Amino acid sequence: MYNIFVLPGDGIGIEVTQSAVRVLKALDLDIKFSYGEIGYECYKRHKTPLPDKTIDQARTCDAVLFGAVTTPPNIENYFSPIVKLRQDLQLYANIRPNKSYPIPGFRENVDLVIVRENTEGLYSGVERTEQSGEKAITERIITNNGCERIIRYAYEMAKKQNRKKLTYVHKANILRQTCGLFRSIAQEISQEYPNITTEEMLVDAMAMQLINKPESFDVIVTTNLFGDILSDEACMLVGGLGLAASANIGKAGALFEPVHGSAPDISGKNIANPFAAIMSAKMMLDYLGEENKAIIIEKSVVSNLKKGYSTKDLGGNLNINQVTDKVIEKIQELIK
Ligand code: NAI
Ligand code: MG
Repeated sequence: MYNIFVLPGDGIGIEVTQSAVRVLKALDLDIKFSYGEIGYECYKRHKTPLPDKTIDQARTCDAVLFGAVTTPPNIENYFSPIVKLRQDLQLYANIRPNKSYPIPGFRENVDLVIVRENTEGLYSGVERTEQSGEKAITERIITNNGCERIIRYAYEMAKKQNRKKLTYVHKANILRQTCGLFRSIAQEISQEYPNITTEEMLVDAMAMQLINKPESFDVIVTTNLFGDILSDEACMLVGGLGLAASANIGKAGALFEPVHGSAPDISGKNIANPFAAIMSAKMMLDYLGEENKAIIIEKSVVSNLKKGYSTKDLGGNLNINQVTDKVIEKIQELIK
């Protein structure tokens, strides 16, 4: 039996995780779902966006299914609970696949995975001001261990998924110390994987080439901020936020979440696209070793996209519950 800890969070996070859970329940798996609190609504109730109880449960479950949280404006001492949770659980690898699906208006033949370092870099959280606020400083922390584990993760994932090429992305010509370290470790580790073609690319060139020839990339590995930006760019090539799923993986845990936020502009209107959360649940099943069930989810989503069964953001006219019903209907047909 799998113990899945669901953290819906705020806004459409609550709506889309409900859809993902419904889809998982349709798959004949032995899953026990438990629920926890996180985010701004949680802060209003408990004076913290991330209670200790949530961290403890996230640590002991088999996987976390997360929705999205709202960042409130200007509350002193407020912190991002999802960034903190990823750090506390040492979920160092953020995996964001971007694949072409049959949706009119988007790029074809794209099948790339961005592997983003998730715990250090410019998101180290080490910030200060000096000279009475005249000068603000954020420390970009890159460690040997941090580079080694993320680069190794990317190569191992490439090997497992039978992918042929890995591009490591940096800006070592300018950021000579931090990106220099990342680059030299990537060069070293690449020697261990002679069957995977390795290439390097500066981050600005990468931003351009992602638009120019996205079909030429396979696995991309990079530091935290670069990965954050490049993965948002990449998702717009193949369907946008409504489809973008992600995994956060560490040695002792894993958390799966749609890339999008809590979308207050559409929250409560029943029009949020559940595919990103459903595909995150699919990634969770891959992680748990339930690859056959994961494929069924993906097949069902693709079949629905082909028929144009989607929410407004992808050109469809169904609401979130209708899309979820269609996905479940197809799953039931595939399982038979
Ligand atoms: P957002 O991702 O919530 O929304 C951006 C735009 O995309 C909006 O127009 C929204 O309606 C649309 N959108 C997003 N997901 C969609 C879906 N599933 N279906 C249809 N349309 C969708 O980002 P935004 O507006 O910058 O931030 C809103 C709140 O979410 C903020 O408080 C922000 O801090 C938070 N946020 C949280 C994240 C997380 O929990 N991991 C990630 C990004 C933002
Ligand atoms: Mg982002």
